[in-house]
Amino acid sequence: MKHLLGTDDLTRAEAIRILDTATQMAATQEREARKLPTLRGKTVVNLFFEDSTRTRISFEAAAKRLSADVINFSAKGSSVSKGESLKDTALTLQAMGADAVVVRHWASGAAHQLAHGNWMHGSVVNAGDGTHQHPTQALLDAYTARRHLVDEPDGKGLDGLRIAIVGDILHSRVARSNVALLTTLGAQVSLVAPPTLIPVGVGPWPVDVFMNLDDALDAHHFDAVMMLRVQRERMSGGGAAYFPSPAEYTRLFGLDSARLARLDAHSIVMHPGPMNRGLEISAEAADSTRSVIVEQVANGVAVRMAALYLLLAGEERP
Ligand code: CP
Repeated sequence: MKHLLGTDDLTRAEAIRILDTATQMAATQEREARKLPTLRGKTVVNLFFEDSTRTRISFEAAAKRLSADVINFSAKGSSVSKGESLKDTALTLQAMGADAVVVRHWASGAAHQLAHGNWMHGSVVNAGDGTHQHPTQALLDAYTARRHLVDEPDGKGLDGLRIAIVGDILHSRVARSNVALLTTLGAQVSLVAPPTLIPVGVGPWPVDVFMNLDDALDAHHFDAVMMLRVQRERMSGGGAAYFPSPAEYTRLFGLDSARLARLDAHSIVMHPGPMNRGLEISAEAADSTRSVIVEQVANGVAVRMAALYLLLAGEERP
């Protein structure tokens, strides 16, 4: 694997290999000395053109725990604000000897352009491009679901599990990455959203679709319910064109105590973050014993260690 650009081009075997490697990485983090020498001498650049808390910090932690040198590059305060292009930024990173570039960009396709533009030789990891893909988020979601819902998970997928993805599917790279990865791993996926927040081309996707959360809960016993953030910054008018009011959205799609009580005893609640508490998820649901939202963030470090290790260290053992 040279790049990690999306989940749609990962085979089941490749995905399971990343998840199993993440399990090994998580085990190394239980040790007193958590730092591994694996990527000593390698340089990882975090290239963020869009805001991030979880992804940027966990990639930095992951690279440092593998002993890589880390350069953090934020578009704010850089020459990008003077109009420098992605190509010239990439050429600069190449000149600095970047072995891997972790890129988040507002434009769908930016990570592919960086990987295939012949501007740099290193690996490219997509940390979220527009509304397109966010592969390491989906991998950490699958890792978290597998840990909770699959007995002796090593070497296994998510076969037979049913997972709901609820909310702003239209603007969600997390949803696109998860639909591809979860189905590759054998899960059945349901999408739940207002018609205005379902992508136009959803027809061929291997999912069933519900127009409100209660109908979905009537139809299926979900093993995991993944709530998505309403991405008002990507909606003209802050959402008014997509749903009548925040209260109406919460009434039909919000996960609250009553809907939480409808889930099976073993079911988990997920959210990639950041959350709009009180809009797509109530505080009671976000902080409930079923919630694995904080654990998702913690698992992000092990999964990103696994991704960097497999891209940069080849077959060496962690
Ligand atoms: N889930 C996620 O991508 O969070 P950040 O935007 O904080 O990185």
